[in-house]
Amino acid sequence: MKLNVVFFLVLLAAVIFSCNTKPVQGDWITGTETEQLNTAEKHFRGLDVAMMEIGHRYQELYWAGQDENWEYATYQLDKIKLSLTHAIERRPLRKESGDYFLQNDLPLMYSAVQKGDTAIFNESFRIFTISCNACHTKEKVPFFHVNKPVVRTSVISK
Ligand code: HEC
Repeated sequence: MKLNVVFFLVLLAAVIFSCNTKPVQGDWITGTETEQLNTAEKHFRGLDVAMMEIGHRYQELYWAGQDENWEYATYQLDKIKLSLTHAIERRPLRKESGDYFLQNDLPLMYSAVQKGDTAIFNESFRIFTISCNACHTKEKVPFFHVNKPVVRTSVISK
């Protein structure tokens, strides 16, 4: 058999095989590939779940600062950054406000943590809180008013 005939037969077999292949289905993620992607995207949610995470991490950050646990404080800032970065990928309409926070407000908090001084930390945390609320106002959800934590619920302490 000539080489180009073999090549043609292999190609034909591949085409027939791919036509017969059904999309892989999960237990509840089903449908066409596009439908499956839509389902997965929907379940990733938007900013709301990220904000619940950020709300938690914001509190952990505060108590880390009171404990002078600067490594833990840095860790929480890293995760706030990651969570918000992904959230604005999912919700591009919030990108402008999100980028502002990531490029201006977050670095100020990072540098306060790096100084390793609770008094400086507390002053920066006050400003950080104002920035959270500034975004809530910009994004027309001012009723989410963030306040400095008063009750410690963290299971992490020094
Ligand atoms: C990009 C702007 C933006 C920034 C920055 C931001 N938020 Fe939010 N936040 C939102 C939006 C928008 C919502 C409402 C969620 C929604 O509409 O999906 C929200 C909601 C929340 C919620 C309620 C979540 C829930 O569903 O129970 C908390 C808690 C929260 N934010 C905390 C914070 C804290 C703490 C900070 C600062 C460290 C912060 N946010 C910074 C935009 C922002």
